[in-house]
Amino acid sequence: LPRSLVTINDLTNDEIEAIFALADDFLREMPTPGKEWRIGGRISLAEEFVLSTLFYEPSTRTRFSFESAMHRLGGHVISSASRDTTSAAKGESLADTVRVLENYSDVIVLRHPWEGAARVAAEYTDVPVINAGDGSHEHPTQTLCDLYTLRKENESVREKRSFRDLTVLLRGDLKHGRTVHSLVYALARFGAKFIPSPATEDLALPQHVIDRLRREYDCYPASPKDLDEEFLKDVPINAVYVTPDKDKSHQLAWVPEVELSVKVNQIHAFYVTRLQLERADGDSPPTYPKVDSRFLNGSRFRQSSVLHPLPRVEELGYDMDSDSRGVYFKQASYGVPVRMALLAAMLKLRGDILSASPPDANKYEQFDGGGRIECLNGQCVTHLESERRHLKPKFFIVTEDQKHFGGAQPQLTLRCAYCEYEVHPHCLGSKSHRKYDCDPARLSHIRPLSDLVFFNDEQQALEAGYQRYKGTPVHV
Ligand code: CP
Repeated sequence: LPRSLVTINDLTNDEIEAIFALADDFLREMPTPGKEWRIGGRISLAEEFVLSTLFYEPSTRTRFSFESAMHRLGGHVISSASRDTTSAAKGESLADTVRVLENYSDVIVLRHPWEGAARVAAEYTDVPVINAGDGSHEHPTQTLCDLYTLRKENESVREKRSFRDLTVLLRGDLKHGRTVHSLVYALARFGAKFIPSPATEDLALPQHVIDRLRREYDCYPASPKDLDEEFLKDVPINAVYVTPDKDKSHQLAWVPEVELSVKVNQIHAFYVTRLQLERADGDSPPTYPKVDSRFLNGSRFRQSSVLHPLPRVEELGYDMDSDSRGVYFKQASYGVPVRMALLAAMLKLRGDILSASPPDANKYEQFDGGGRIECLNGQCVTHLESERRHLKPKFFIVTEDQKHFGGAQPQLTLRCAYCEYEVHPHCLGSKSHRKYDCDPARLSHIRPLSDLVFFNDEQQALEAGYQRYKGTPVHV
């Protein structure tokens, strides 16, 4: 199968670094005098290839920069800028659409309003699929542009070839912001500190993202005590996350008294996002405090770069445009070299940057839900009428380690294979034995997986005619 890019976790850190090195090469080889962030000219590297851009939601930066990137590489582009100009408007499923497009093009870039849509597309085609944003889930290529900008703007990152010294404050709609979800995983993986500062409490990072940061990326919340008081006075903070010091036990990070060495003296970057009104559940939008020169007046912000995935609405002052800290137009411009490098990597135009299979491809066992479990995320593509006809809910059985949850009993966790939302069924059972249990330890004893069934609660198990296991778990 070709390598697709559905989430930022489909790339290793080394692969991301290799893509950035290639983006540097393109900027060097195709310069625009006086504008070191802009690609100029065209080369003949992708003459044999065609890119499809299939956008079911509006876009300026992502679609045009992908198309520009393909043209600059000498390739060709076919495009649909809205769902209404495709047969999706007549009810065609995404699965059918991409099976057709794979015969017309060599790589598909998809933007879709439903979470997990890009994974569906990747499953149904033989050409690579790149997620250009799927609902509130992820926007991995924006994260590549964000990291590349952080690297370009920060001398220490360039010199040390590491993001570990970086502190990034994430401001705005962290709940619905797909760019934020991809970015926090990447920052955690690269060892940067980040400080989520949601515009309101309701717009904080989703719980399953927080759980995953702990579970898979060893990224733990620091107590506000670990920050200096002056900082807390200036900036509203709902939570602070740090990646642990490699030399210390991760377990210790849970103990509030432990010295975490996260005193924040300087914010290297402000990452501002707009309120995602198109995905907000509330009736009236919350007031959104503006980031502008006045807001960034403090000494700790003197060297801070201000990034924004754009478009901006009210949350970022226009006075930042003439402030050297505002780098968001450069960030948008880097979309071309970064996406050129990604396309070149996926189409193998300059060496073999990507390994044959994605990282962690077989980390967790996959389970079809036994027909009883549906994804609880109402925005998951498995609930979309056109896809329900052919798509069965599918989950990864996520195994927990007690240390990640402060020694508490781990929960049973099923992660939707499409939108990655997590469900916590209360009980599990064996179909062949018609027995159930609410002890996660039973999980490892029920094999094969086709014999496994999950229940939301004991009542559901009893109604299905299952009896509770007696005694300690046994091999069945
Ligand atoms: N940053 C971003 O995704 O912008 P567009 O919606 O304009 O593509």
